[in-house]
Amino acid sequence: MPIAPVLPVSPGKFPLSDYKPLANAELNRRIEAARKQLGSRLLILGHHYQQDEVIEHADLRGDSYQLSQMAADSKDCRTIIFCGVHFMAETADILANRPEKLAERADQRVSVILPDMAAGCSMADMAAIAQVEDAWDQLGEVIDTNELIPVTYINSAASLKAFCGKHGGIVCTSSNAAAVLEWSFQRGKRVFFFPDQHLGRNTALTMGITNAQMPVWNPYEEELGGHTDEAIENSRVILWQGHCSVHQMFRPEHVHQFREKHPGIKILVHPECPQEVNDIADISGSTSKILKTVEAAPPGTKWAIGTELHLVNRLKKEHPEQEIFFLSPVVCMCATMYRIDLAHLAWSIENLVAGEVVNKIEVDPETAHYSLVALERMLEVR
Ligand code: 13P
Ligand code: SF4
Repeated sequence: MPIAPVLPVSPGKFPLSDYKPLANAELNRRIEAARKQLGSRLLILGHHYQQDEVIEHADLRGDSYQLSQMAADSKDCRTIIFCGVHFMAETADILANRPEKLAERADQRVSVILPDMAAGCSMADMAAIAQVEDAWDQLGEVIDTNELIPVTYINSAASLKAFCGKHGGIVCTSSNAAAVLEWSFQRGKRVFFFPDQHLGRNTALTMGITNAQMPVWNPYEEELGGHTDEAIENSRVILWQGHCSVHQMFRPEHVHQFREKHPGIKILVHPECPQEVNDIADISGSTSKILKTVEAAPPGTKWAIGTELHLVNRLKKEHPEQEIFFLSPVVCMCATMYRIDLAHLAWSIENLVAGEVVNKIEVDPETAHYSLVALERMLEVR
């Protein structure tokens, strides 16, 4: 796996070490007091996988697609504190500071803060730009890359989004992957999908593409990702060998065990789960689809849900009229999302009040420009 870059952590006017020993009640009080001072100049965005105590401070919460729309639509704010992971904060920086937004604000940038720089994504780290560029060059020796559309899951570094922008490609999220693949097949013969093989495979299978037409590109193989020329020539979707360490923990035996123990139970999973689980689930859908499906279900419905633990626990709390179980017997939580806690939030926000923007995420102008091309294509797809 490529080593994730070590990002510089700001010292801040007030050191983080002052916040770590404080009790939650004190941190909550200080966060609220600081927010009052900042008013609408601050927007706190929170991904659904954040822990409850953090999500309670979010002005807006959503899945990856909704959060990018929220950043794109933001108006009054001058700072976004992003309670999520690094690629989400990068996307927010690109969208909130795109040229028309800067023109509306007389060139004033929105600063995006990631409260903990170690909140990365192991899936995003499985595809480094140098590996993707190398794969593209190798593919170009076998097939015509003018007919190959690169699609990156939003869970990827901005450099990969920029690669897609430069090469006629697009970004997708778990909620629009099918529409994005259709968009791609209207423009090319094949798709190169990274970094999540499972989302790519599960989505393409619903469109009638077979596993035989989806070679998995192993970036550590010396030649052609471990495939023959023929396999690449016959491909429709070339899948990158990446996965989400959280969603790959769900197994078919978990589904069978729940069905045996609770006849009539519905299995609801995220499409980052492996095909063997996705295929036998009752419903597969993005984080927002999972939420909407549970919200719309009649009282007494039984669910076993295969997605991040904090979201499933929140659904249990918010829907006591339904019986909700976590699909795995082991704890599958996103350890990097979990890095954002009240201490980091209080530290970021009090430094902001004191005029110091800590842990600022700012994508360089060229990468931002080409990433925006691919992101805008995505936002136009539906
Ligand atoms: P969505 O928010 O698009 O459902 O993605 C899930 C995820 O893994 C976020 O990191
Ligand atoms: Fe990355 Fe998976 Fe965590 Fe999402 S849940 S941030 S894909 S590791």
